[in-house]
Amino acid sequence: MISPATAANLRRAAELIRGGETVAFPTETVYGLGADATNAVAVARIFEIKQRPSFDPLIVHLDDATRLHQVACDVPPGARKLIEQFWPGPLTLILKKKDLIPDIVTADLPSVAVRVPDHETALELLRLADRPIAAPSANRFGCISPTTAEHVQEQLGERPGMILDAGPCRVGVESTIISFLADPPALLRPGGIAVETIIAAIGRIDLAPKVEQRIAPGLSSRHYAPRTELRLVLSAGEVPAGERSGAALLVVDPKQAEPGFRHVEPLSSDGNLVEAAANLFAALHRLDASNVRRIYAVRIPEEGLGLAIMDRLRRAARAEG
Ligand code: TXA
Ligand code: MG
Repeated sequence: MISPATAANLRRAAELIRGGETVAFPTETVYGLGADATNAVAVARIFEIKQRPSFDPLIVHLDDATRLHQVACDVPPGARKLIEQFWPGPLTLILKKKDLIPDIVTADLPSVAVRVPDHETALELLRLADRPIAAPSANRFGCISPTTAEHVQEQLGERPGMILDAGPCRVGVESTIISFLADPPALLRPGGIAVETIIAAIGRIDLAPKVEQRIAPGLSSRHYAPRTELRLVLSAGEVPAGERSGAALLVVDPKQAEPGFRHVEPLSSDGNLVEAAANLFAALHRLDASNVRRIYAVRIPEEGLGLAIMDRLRRAARAEG
């Protein structure tokens, strides 16, 4: 059931978490499906509800960086610098894990993914629950990430103990994931904070780490998949006139649109990447429900948030079957 994030509902949600139930809640990036990160049985419910394979580890959310020592150790200076600059915010760090976090959270890895979200509802839930909350995005495994409470309900129905609603997510793409297990640190997933910004803060990072380092993750190709086939094109002009009437066109900037498509979905009013990222998943949900035969998405330069947007679009395009 969708419940507005009132003080009373937040208290109830925190009680559910403390009692080993799951709660879907908003963050600045996407909605998460949370459970007590210190309770293996509660965390198992997340995998069951999402139908997520147990080899895909979860992100642990904290209300404050001062709690980091409870869940992780060996925090290198570069990680400290990023924490000071970007927490709370859409940045997840991979660090060596502590025993408080059960193996199911990290899929048996000796490391843990951790972040402090920049969203008052998420932070208040974490404070009231008074423990770390493990939460993946609140979608079914392999499906489009949710940026509204309605998206969560469409995919997960009544299975979460509660769906806290605080409106659409501000950032709209998931957190940037940086692993500090090796030197230089490695980018595991582009996301809400541009890699250029991270490089400016700590210098060199490995932008294309080897597969064994990426082990995980959201890196499976069936991620962010709409049911409708999605194709990437360099420009709308590539799409033959005869195919347009049954197809939708997804563009970041309305100037990239061309006539003849059944539906055109501009992600921003003027090519603004922040606005485009915030609208991306909602647009994919809408297009998927619009019964077009195919979605054509026009590529954008992979700079700033363009890298995260293109990453999600490429996965959606690859995700057939
Ligand atoms: O913005 C976000 O990060 C959202 C909100 C809810 O916080 N969460 C999110 O979670 O995107 P999820 O589960 O959809 O993606 C988490 C990613 C996965 O690709 C997972 O494999 C990776 O983090 N991950 C988690 N623990 C890891 C670890 N120990 N080593 C490497 N990757 C890890
Ligand atoms: Mg996800």
